[in-house]
Amino acid sequence: MEKWIGEAALREREEASFEELEGAMDRAVKQTEDNLRLYQGAFPEANSVGGFYPTGKNTDWTSGFWTGELWISYDYEKDPEKKNFLLSEGEKAVLSFSRRMEERHYIDHHDMGFLFLPSCVYAWRLTGNRTARETALLAAEQLKSRYRAEGRYIQAWGEMRSEGNARLIIDCLLNLPLLYWASEESGRAEYREIAEMHTETTMRHILREDGSSWHTLFFDPKSGEFSHGATCQGYQDGSAWARGQSWGIYGTAIAYRNTKNADYLRDFRRISAYFLSHLPEDLCPYWDLFFGDGDQEEPRDSSSLAIAACGFLEMSKYLPREEAEYYSSLSKKLLKSLIDHYQVKDRRQSDGQLLHGTYAKKTPFNTCKNSGVDECVIWGDYFFMEALNRILRPESMSYF
Ligand code: GLY
Repeated sequence: MEKWIGEAALREREEASFEELEGAMDRAVKQTEDNLRLYQGAFPEANSVGGFYPTGKNTDWTSGFWTGELWISYDYEKDPEKKNFLLSEGEKAVLSFSRRMEERHYIDHHDMGFLFLPSCVYAWRLTGNRTARETALLAAEQLKSRYRAEGRYIQAWGEMRSEGNARLIIDCLLNLPLLYWASEESGRAEYREIAEMHTETTMRHILREDGSSWHTLFFDPKSGEFSHGATCQGYQDGSAWARGQSWGIYGTAIAYRNTKNADYLRDFRRISAYFLSHLPEDLCPYWDLFFGDGDQEEPRDSSSLAIAACGFLEMSKYLPREEAEYYSSLSKKLLKSLIDHYQVKDRRQSDGQLLHGTYAKKTPFNTCKNSGVDECVIWGDYFFMEALNRILRPESMSYF
């Protein structure tokens, strides 16, 4: 048995049909609406436990994804009564994000984009909600405050300038659209400039020779000189954490959209090629691309496939026709696997959207804690719905 099927074999795979995509989206929207009634204003946590999400307050870096599911459902839903229900629940969620910003609850980190794009920026774009706009602008200001000029990057985690925290992570490429958006809204160039400098620093060091990526990059805390790459959530230093690689796919598409710098097009192709040549038989990657078929005891990360599909669909808007068709067809192949083998089809099994995600798996060689291994993860649910909506309603809304 081959570990990975390879890019050539991918070309033979079947795409999800329009009907399959539509059926999947109908199910996902229904699941969201049922969850809204179940959660009653609470927020699902980052990952399910035994297939079901514990719920709580709007307190984690992941809280925006659930609100993003509401807005995508609102955008897609045609029944006026259900649409109104989604709108009023979405508006309540915006107020919760506004309070969170006022109280400055757990905002001292870089995940302002993950939190405030799918919640507040979407609310503003879809419904003209002004509280959402003001809240997202404050969030962009907060993200800007994480910038370290000496190394030209946004510090990911921890108190600014505290010991051991002179670090960026690949995931942050997805936080940057908040800065691009704030620049356009406010007319102030500094947000865009910071996004551009952070991207440039990231892309100068994050890819290895073979197109695989580091999860995190460390810098000298005083001079800002690049020091070294390391993993946190991957299997080991030098392996390719599957979700990091897919953050890189979507992240380079965002970088190219915003700068039209041809270097990012090249980076997108390299990082994508590595990802695509490390997919197992059913196309859903193991949690680190080091693993493949034959490593059946290792869990998958379905969320990384959903994120990659969104990145391919985003980039296909800017590519020459033949290449655009290749990536958009590829997305439908990846979605077919997610729909057939990973989407939740029975609420008795799970209240999530996508089974078999992995948040973080502890190994002797990485620095994360074990959490959400082989569970639904809330961003996997969200990006699955984003990918479906991107195909079914291409002109409807803009995302990350
Ligand atoms: N951004 C954190 C993660 O992907 O787990």
